[in-house]
Amino acid sequence: MIENVVGVFSLPLGVAANFVVNGRDVLVPMAVEEPSVVAGASFMARLARNTGGFRATASAPEMIGQLLILDVPDAEQARTALLAAKARILQMATAVDPVLARLGGGARDIEVRVLAESPIGLLLVLHLIYDTRDAMGANAVNTALETIAPLVAEISGGRVHLRILSNLADRRLATASATFRAADLAFGEFSGAQVRDGVIAAWAFAVADPYRAATHNKGIMNGVDAVVLATGNDWRAIEAGAHAYAARSGRYTSLSTWACNADGDLTGTLEMPLAVGIVGGATRAHPTARAALQVLGVSSAAELAQIIVSVGLAQNLAALRALATEGIQRGHMGLHARQVAIAAGARADQVEAVANQLVRERAVRTDRALEILQAN
Ligand code: MEV
Repeated sequence: MIENVVGVFSLPLGVAANFVVNGRDVLVPMAVEEPSVVAGASFMARLARNTGGFRATASAPEMIGQLLILDVPDAEQARTALLAAKARILQMATAVDPVLARLGGGARDIEVRVLAESPIGLLLVLHLIYDTRDAMGANAVNTALETIAPLVAEISGGRVHLRILSNLADRRLATASATFRAADLAFGEFSGAQVRDGVIAAWAFAVADPYRAATHNKGIMNGVDAVVLATGNDWRAIEAGAHAYAARSGRYTSLSTWACNADGDLTGTLEMPLAVGIVGGATRAHPTARAALQVLGVSSAAELAQIIVSVGLAQNLAALRALATEGIQRGHMGLHARQVAIAAGARADQVEAVANQLVRERAVRTDRALEILQAN
C-alpha cells in the first residue's frame, strides 16, 4: 500500500457493544491504542439504549474540489463566464467517472469565489461540488478537477494553479442525537441531576473557550478516529474536516451540544463532516478494514457515517461524565497500569498482578513497576 515498507504497525482492534443506531443493533470495530475508549463508548451506548439509542442522519455525499485560478485579467468577468459555462463543466467532470455516474454520482454544481484578501492579492477559486456516493471520493474529485482545469483556464482567461479536494467537507455532514435518562447517569455519591448538570457545565466551558474546546473535541475524535481507522478510512482527512468545521464561525468551539430536556434528561447532539467511504482506498484493500465493514453490516457510506457520529457522541459523554465527577484518572488508571507494567518488562503472566498492585498503591509509574518486578 505504501513505499519503503519494512513491517506492519499493529494497533489493538476492539469492538464497542450496545450501540443502537436508527433502530439497528450494531457492533462497532474500533482501532485505538488508548485505554478506556472502547469501554467508554460501550457504556454510554448502553445508557442510550434505554431511550431508543442514537438517531443519526447523513447529508448527500457531496465533496468539494477546489481549483485556484491565478492571473485572471478580470475576476468578475471570469466569474460570470464560468457560471455561464456551468453545464459544460459539470458534464465534463461527470464523464470522468462513468461508474460513479452510473451509480447516480457525479458533478452537481460549481461555485466561483473571489477571495479579495490574500498575501498575494486577489484569488479566484472554483468549487466543484461532486457526489461521490459510497466512496470517500478524493480520487474521483481530484481526477475531475485535473480534467476540467484546462477548460476552466480557457474560460476564465487565467491559469489554473492548485487542483485538489477540500477536507472541509461541510456539505457531507453527519448528525447524531441521543437522550440519556438523568436517573441512569447517577453513580457513586453523584445524583443523576448532578451528573447531567456537570456535563452541561463542562460542555459550556468548551463552547466558550478554544483551549477547552480542543480537548473536548479530541475526546469526540477518540471514538470517531478509532472507527475511521478500523474501516480503512483516512483519519487525517476526518480530523482536518472536524477541526475546520469546529472553527467555522471564526472561533473554534465545541462540535457537540448538551442540554437538559423537559423531562430533566440529558440530550446530546453531534454534527460534523464525515467524508468516509465503504468502497475504494484501503476500505476494500485492507483485510481488517474489510472485516470491520462486514461486522458493521453497513450498506452505504452514509450509514457508516451515521454510526461513526454516534460513537463520537457517546465518547464525548463518557469523557464529560468522568470529568464532571470523579475525574478521568480513576477509570483510566486500571487500564493504563497494564501498559505501564508491559513497558517495565512484565511478562504476559505478570501483567495483571503488577497492574493491580500499581493501582492499589496509587503509584502507576514505570519506576514502581520495575521495583515490583525486581522483587518477584
Ligand atoms: C483523553 O483522550 C480525552 C479527554 O481529554 C476528552 C475531554 O477532556 O473531554 C478526556
